[in-house]
Amino acid sequence: FHVTWDAQSAEKGGFEHFMIKEIHEQPKAIKDTMTSRIMADCDEIKLDDIKLTSEQLKNIDRIYIVACGTAYHAGMVGKYVIEKLAKIPVEVDIASEFRYRDPIINEKTLMIVVSQSGETADTLAALKQAKSKGARVIAVTNVVGSSVAREADDVLYTWAGPEIAVASTKAYVTQLIAMYIIALYLARLNGNISVEEYRQIRDEMLTLPEKSQEVLDQKEELQKFAASNYMHKDIYYIGRGLDFAVALEGSLKLKEISYIHSDAYAAGELKHGSIALIEKGVPVIALASQSELYDKMVSNIKEIVSRGAKVIGFAFEGNSEIEKTVNQAVYIPKTLDILAPVLLVIPLQLLAYYTAVEKGCDVDKPRNLAKSVTVE
Ligand code: G6P
Repeated sequence: FHVTWDAQSAEKGGFEHFMIKEIHEQPKAIKDTMTSRIMADCDEIKLDDIKLTSEQLKNIDRIYIVACGTAYHAGMVGKYVIEKLAKIPVEVDIASEFRYRDPIINEKTLMIVVSQSGETADTLAALKQAKSKGARVIAVTNVVGSSVAREADDVLYTWAGPEIAVASTKAYVTQLIAMYIIALYLARLNGNISVEEYRQIRDEMLTLPEKSQEVLDQKEELQKFAASNYMHKDIYYIGRGLDFAVALEGSLKLKEISYIHSDAYAAGELKHGSIALIEKGVPVIALASQSELYDKMVSNIKEIVSRGAKVIGFAFEGNSEIEKTVNQAVYIPKTLDILAPVLLVIPLQLLAYYTAVEKGCDVDKPRNLAKSVTVE
């Protein structure tokens, strides 16, 4: 009798690493995070653990979203969608910076902290600081009963399930869903979006589990790109608007697990400095999902292609114009521009994963990193 599996590989459900298993769990995680909150044929968002009333919201003049790492990148998307839908000014801060910069906090402040573990020391300290100055705090966390959940006034749990790999994937997409839910909730509460606008976004959100599965089904393309680029020393990510926020997250994933030097740039800003880094053969991941910025993005791509960059471009299905400019194009299913981050981040996670595997890195436990940082 011979045992060919152990408890760990059984937990990985047939996948080689927790990270790739968790990437594949995203359609379900997205669905679970929406369940019972956003429902077809229901014009109300149901949030059991958020008690903020429209009267209280009238008093709020500013929102801070505070987080670390990947959760901070979800917060950047949160700023964009809350400002767009609820029309309330939002600042996003890195928790370890926020705490020490004497931010303006009072009873008119709403803070949203985002933390997968709910135990990150800097995020927790920022939360306590805000509370002590009279702010109201909403926690977005994946762990029921975690410290941030206990300290906050309101909680929105992400239902990603346990995330084991150090590099966050499924927790991030559920944080994005949480940002959309909060933005829609606030926008309905203060009357900045109509029922019709709400329905349009709601119906499209409900298609995301299926569309994210379609993205996962194209993984071979990304595997090939990783196989031919894993030996590069630098890989850059560019995008504009929401694509820039996703570019930052894609770049972080690559750094964390493959140790390849990488940076993300707002594509319109390249010409003010970073384009000096572009030389023959440098791989650049260009994100071009945002329709208002598509033409601008295509011309940014042309600028770097003419300097020798090897570009893999990402766009919505149907926007094939990009093919004329890039070396390789990858398409994601069409959705609303504001929801694009959910679908766009998945190929970037896969790219980082396959690159790290090609390099033989310890994907689930990258050097120098911890899943949750409970020291300052
Ligand atoms: C650590 C992890 C990151 C994570 C960050 C924030 O640095 O390695 O993946 O994004 O902490 O963690 P949190 O649990 O607060 O979301």
